[in-house]
Amino acid sequence: MILVETVAGMKALSRGWKRAGKSVGFVPTMGYLHEGHLSLVRESKTRADVTVVSIFVNPTQFGPNEDLDKYPRDLAKDSAYLERAGVDVLYHPPAAEVYPPGYRTYVEVEGLQDRLCGRSRPGHFRGVATVVLKLFETVGPDLAFFGAKDAQQVLIIERMARDLDLGVEVVTCPLVREPDGLALSSRNAYLSPEERQAALALSIGLRWAERAVAAGERDPAKVVAGIRAVLEAEPLARIDYVEAVDPGTLEPVAEMRGPVLVAVAAFVGPTRLIDNVRIAV
Ligand code: PAF
Repeated sequence: MILVETVAGMKALSRGWKRAGKSVGFVPTMGYLHEGHLSLVRESKTRADVTVVSIFVNPTQFGPNEDLDKYPRDLAKDSAYLERAGVDVLYHPPAAEVYPPGYRTYVEVEGLQDRLCGRSRPGHFRGVATVVLKLFETVGPDLAFFGAKDAQQVLIIERMARDLDLGVEVVTCPLVREPDGLALSSRNAYLSPEERQAALALSIGLRWAERAVAAGERDPAKVVAGIRAVLEAEPLARIDYVEAVDPGTLEPVAEMRGPVLVAVAAFVGPTRLIDNVRIAV
């Protein structure tokens, strides 16, 4: 595996692959990798000739009171993990390479960026869209792989790729859970054992919703209220939002019919976690 730490170095490699007619698969990450990231790597390796993983904790997607400084980092462990997984290139640029002094250009995906997580994390998706566009420009992928846990993020990136004619196929891979249901996330590392247990309320609430809809419930307000009740019964959890939305527009649905994205964000202790299920009726 080659470690690349400059924009110019990454672009030169990518140009070489293009000349050789090789397809490039790309997995953008912020590091502290887990099995969810590895599932994206495996998918990339089956679909592309070369696989690039980026590790970059992107400052522009963190709000002023968020966890940028304490976001978990372990480059040595991540790099060993990626080497074993057969990744070709680890792209790990310093912040000054991505945002040099005087940086002023940002991407906004109007409407989509302001719903769900965008409401409680203003500016978050502007930072995500901006860095992903820059990473796409540098890495030059044919395919880019994202996890379904970040459903709003994937939708925004797909929209950006289409609107800006990026020529990158955005591939959504299934959400990966622990055996007890907790959605994998680098932020799970923040949880104490009690919080780790309390965090199960998110997936328990969503599983309850799936069962309720399978049993015939069609009223999104009742589905949302049922999930809220599960979360409210957990003393360590504090709801940010619970919504049942159209997966293409993120607008609230009037009825549980067709595909519906049921999305949850909640604080467990100080840690904000998200989870979702896509229910097709
Ligand atoms: O999902 C993430 O880890 C990040 O939001 C991403 C896509 C790498 C952009 O910084």
